[in-house]
Amino acid sequence: MTIQWYPGHMAKAKRQVLEKLKLIDVVIEVVDARIPLSSRNPMVDEITSHKPRLVLLNKSDLADQAVTDKWVTYFEDKGWASLVIDAQRGKGMKEIPLKVKELCKPLLDKFAAKGMNPRALRALILGIPNVGKSTVINRIANKKITKIGDRPGVTKSQQWIKVGKEIELLDTPGILWPKFEDQDVGFRLALTGAIKEEIFDFQETVVFLLDYLKKNYPEKLKNRYNLTELPEEVGELFDAIGKRRGCLVPGGIVDYDRVAEIVFRDFRQGKLGTISLERP
Ligand code: G4P
Repeated sequence: MTIQWYPGHMAKAKRQVLEKLKLIDVVIEVVDARIPLSSRNPMVDEITSHKPRLVLLNKSDLADQAVTDKWVTYFEDKGWASLVIDAQRGKGMKEIPLKVKELCKPLLDKFAAKGMNPRALRALILGIPNVGKSTVINRIANKKITKIGDRPGVTKSQQWIKVGKEIELLDTPGILWPKFEDQDVGFRLALTGAIKEEIFDFQETVVFLLDYLKKNYPEKLKNRYNLTELPEEVGELFDAIGKRRGCLVPGGIVDYDRVAEIVFRDFRQGKLGTISLERP
């Protein structure tokens, strides 16, 4: 799979974020809990390293909890705060304002030392398309403010959102694309819905998925497709699933496109169970 990363996009997003950063006390970065590194824009580290950071591991309902726990430790080791959330159902969201205040304690202490009333804390919320940033914002704001796009990369207008009296949230200006550092990152982004279906190859993506599942979640794979054994070769696995699902063309040959489509949809709909596609 070859997807271009345009330096122009990166430069524009960087300028836009830098401009807003002057106003900001804390950066909230939303990532997909199934692929916490692949669903990040690497530029964010480069330009926001001097700000306190809260990482929200969203879509945790779809991820493998044991792996997610390891990611929490990973981010904490970097000196960042992190929270495991499911923005769709509102799980873990109540802790966000508490974490923001905790991260901004030095600033709040400074206000107190000067005898000043603390102003609202200002947070910039970042995330690549489709990680659930709008869902998070809507949940935090407790009302429907941001229009949620049903396609990755839908532009949303920028605005400050009040979270009680103590926090103000600014949505990312522009679109922060992920970086396709290698093929595997592209596959992970395709599988989790961060890139459009038109631009990736189903079969290649599903070969990656089946290979990964075979190594990391063999039981889930066997259960879903009623297989007692998993063949060595991914091609044979396509055959086995195809036969189970009746994806045959005349002559009894397995239709690989149909198998790829079925496995892809099963993954997307969570029918293979909770799965993390990336490990620390
Ligand atoms: P964005 O602003 O970062 O681009 O993402 P947005 O909030 O629009 O969310 C993208 C999709 O992810 C939405 O589904 C949304 O409902 C879903 N989503 C957000 N948070 C969670 C979560 O914690 N768990 C789960 N399971 N889903 C979540 P959608 O519009 O149906 O898109 P899609 O799922 O078909 O891609």
